Amino acid sequence: MQALKSIVERAFEERFGSEAQLFASPGRINLIGEHTDYNGGFVFPGAVDKGVVAAIRPNSENEVRIVALDLNEECRFGLEESDKPEASWAHYIFGVCREIQKRGYTIGGFEAVFSGNVPLGAGMSSSAALESVFAFALNELFACGIDRFELARIGQSTEHNYCGVKCGIMDQFASVFGKAGCLMRLDCRSMEFEYYPFDPAAHGYRLVLVNSCVKHQLTGSPYNDRRLSCEKVAQALGREFLRGATMAELEALGNTISEEDYKRAYYVIGEEQRVLTVCEALKNNDYETVGRCMYETHWGMSKDYEVSCEELDFLATVAQKCGVTGSRIMGGGFGGCTINLVKEELYDAFITQAQERFKARYGHEVAIYEVVISEGSHRM
Ligand code: GLA
Repeated sequence: MQALKSIVERAFEERFGSEAQLFASPGRINLIGEHTDYNGGFVFPGAVDKGVVAAIRPNSENEVRIVALDLNEECRFGLEESDKPEASWAHYIFGVCREIQKRGYTIGGFEAVFSGNVPLGAGMSSSAALESVFAFALNELFACGIDRFELARIGQSTEHNYCGVKCGIMDQFASVFGKAGCLMRLDCRSMEFEYYPFDPAAHGYRLVLVNSCVKHQLTGSPYNDRRLSCEKVAQALGREFLRGATMAELEALGNTISEEDYKRAYYVIGEEQRVLTVCEALKNNDYETVGRCMYETHWGMSKDYEVSCEELDFLATVAQKCGVTGSRIMGGGFGGCTINLVKEELYDAFITQAQERFKARYGHEVAIYEVVISEGSHRM
């Protein structure tokens, strides 16, 4: 992130001059608890050492001027609802501005340059990093006094209202609240959370992401469809959320719900339990149980929730064959990364196998990312 800082700082100076202030927000991993957030359940994410860095300077007009350094594009917009820009990347920033304003806070125009190193479409929340860095920075620069939870909600509402994804709160929460060396167990119903120091290396394990480089795209229907299925089943159960529903209750619904909706809810109810099992297991340094749950999540997401793809199933299978402790799709699905918990002594062999076998089968490389659990949104 420090390297990004100097690049962004220099680019700002060249384009807009001096007096920029610098901010950063990270992407995230999630150890377990996938598609549980919008069901009022638990998630278990942590922020990573990859993110978005923005240089920002307020101006005295009501115009926003932004340079997306990685795309070499510039965009200008005003702060009225009717000013929504064309460029889809700018929707994230425009949305954040509008969501801040809708909550009754006053912001003005600004100049900004930003750049990021979260791989796009990898399930590591590049969009949450972008929303969070602007929400965090504008809150500071215009002294709005918005608390961190509301900053996360501003990012989430941006996805809902300006980007077409009815996401849960996990990604924005993780980006804003991250803490170095800690995962966070968040209860997405009460919004209570707890930091869990997480140091697999101390127990002979490594956490690594393998990016299939199949770009996932959550905008469009599949993600929102999953959410709709869950809401239908919750409604049939007379509940606000699927959270807390039991398998017995689900079975009792019989033919009143579709086969498809049944499978979606079956996965979510199982996943609820797995997050709690994993948190408990971690307290006892029982990494074998953590890993077993990760595989269960993978195959649940693949067969019941149906958000995997051939390449990700392939990677999880290679991991399993290499004796990797746990492996699964991470994030929304439909592409992106697997997250893998690997015993130190198996690490090199697994990485080589994953790289070679994947290339032989699909003709392109995977990308490997070591996970470093890092700090959330901050001023640089
Ligand atoms: C995406 C969404 C999150 C969450 C995950 C799946 O990352 O943005 O809110 O639902 O998918 O766990």
